[in-house]
Amino acid sequence: MQLLKAPPSPRKHPIYSRIRDTSLHAKVMSADAAAALFRDDMVVGMSGFTRAGEAKAVPLALVRRARMHPIEITLITGASLGNDLDGLMADCGLVKRRLPFQSDQKLRVHINKGSVSFIDQHLSETVERIRSGQFPRPDIAVIEAVAITEEGAIVPTTSVGNSASFVAEARQVIVEINTVAPASLEGLHDIYMPANRPVRRPINLVTPKDRIGVDAICVPKDKIAAIVMSDHHDSFASLDAPDAETRAISGHLTGFLLDEVRRGTLPPGLRPIQAGIGTIANAVLMGFADASFEGLTMYSEVLQDSAFDLMDLGKLDFASASSITLSARRHANVMARIDAYRDRLVLRPQEISNHPEIVRRLGVIAINTALEFDIYGNVNSTHVMGSHMMNGIGGSGDFARNAGLSIFVSKSVAKAGAITSVVPMVSHVDHTEHDVDVLVTEYGLADLRGLAPRERAAKIINSCAHPDWRPALSDYFARACTRGGQTPHVLEEAFQWYAKFRENGQMCACHTACACA
Ligand code: COA
Repeated sequence: MQLLKAPPSPRKHPIYSRIRDTSLHAKVMSADAAAALFRDDMVVGMSGFTRAGEAKAVPLALVRRARMHPIEITLITGASLGNDLDGLMADCGLVKRRLPFQSDQKLRVHINKGSVSFIDQHLSETVERIRSGQFPRPDIAVIEAVAITEEGAIVPTTSVGNSASFVAEARQVIVEINTVAPASLEGLHDIYMPANRPVRRPINLVTPKDRIGVDAICVPKDKIAAIVMSDHHDSFASLDAPDAETRAISGHLTGFLLDEVRRGTLPPGLRPIQAGIGTIANAVLMGFADASFEGLTMYSEVLQDSAFDLMDLGKLDFASASSITLSARRHANVMARIDAYRDRLVLRPQEISNHPEIVRRLGVIAINTALEFDIYGNVNSTHVMGSHMMNGIGGSGDFARNAGLSIFVSKSVAKAGAITSVVPMVSHVDHTEHDVDVLVTEYGLADLRGLAPRERAAKIINSCAHPDWRPALSDYFARACTRGGQTPHVLEEAFQWYAKFRENGQMCACHTACACA
């Protein structure tokens, strides 16, 4: 007679070996059971930063639940979520209020039609607002983890974001153990939270390499309401390969930085670099591979492919950030070799990666992307045609305002030339002329330091604008100057350019010399 094999003990599941505090094994439950803990109108803090390290199983279970029995929540994260979660949660009516950042096409539609209220916030500030009682505390925090330590602390995955503060402030915590995230991510994190005011001390971080905290998020055991298993991967970043324009932008920028080194205003290894999100920022940073810099460091919020390419080339010595967001080209390769980067990498809470005190102290070289900028140097990073949200300000303001050198890059035109990215007056301002030192397009670079507004205008038009748009911009500026002013404008004309785009699908000055005349 054949003996029946006993079914494998449920405790043999890989999740249990990752919960090293065995007293917590009893809290393991299904994602659907955990989703039943949520109530209508709750404030929920979820891990996740630029499509990395977000909780995945619980939000999906919440979507299933909301489709059957509608509930609404306020959702706070670190930044954008992957796996289409933002779109799924918005489409089923689950999310009624969202902060502080997103980059999801479907959620964007809800935001722009007003069915989701979006608070576009500097990423370093969110938890400060919660901690100081200016924004409600999360009722529940949902945090993705690679493990729970012997001491019961939560080890995050590919991002730290706001997770540590969500855990500290939330009434209940759900931990999602991601069994496909490499266990070797443990040890990369440096968790530090500033004390409450008025007893807060200076943050003792003076180089990107400094570790000032602990390597996992401490949580009182009785706060853990559920532990859930997840085997969903992070989404891949969708990054276009560098093209002629982004290569040209990178060439202008690296040439400028090399000149600054020659002039002695920057050391040969530059200052710590912050690079923004998206295709352009990634491509621009990749261009550093061909420049003669050595011993670079990064103090940034996101590490895209380019950071790992530069590390592999031996150009980048150390990178500090809050998340790792990789394309399909790089994801498996970097995750499989995470040990090879261990001594050159640290992931911090976004409050620290983006902290104004540290950004100013380190003299960070901040490289962010603009949708458009105007002839005086004001930058719009968020609102298409002045009204429609693209992604959000993210960390660009945290860095631009406090950087040693604040650089914005953009292609000179968008939508096949129908839109000029250099305009008379930006339709929405994220970064004022006071926070912008250098502007770069594929046509050239405008170093605005030490220039008054009228001097800036001439420089920006002649260095950065697409040649087709220069006559119209110069004409606008000349006529504005006849009216006088520190920052001359022809207000009744400035926004006509956008109105024309709305009417004809082509921006146009339609005054004198102009691209479409
Ligand atoms: N008007 C209208 N649309 C514009 C535009 C303009 N002036 N400039 C660019 N766009 C459109 C592009 O056509 C493209 O549209 P598509 O998605 O339909 O193709 C989209 O904006 C993205 O532009 P792209 O040229 O691909 O740039 P990107 O991927 O590098 O993203 C930002 C650029 C500005 C959207 C992105 O960097 C961002 O969200 N920045 C704000 C947050 C931030 O800076 N964080 C940094 C801290 S890490």
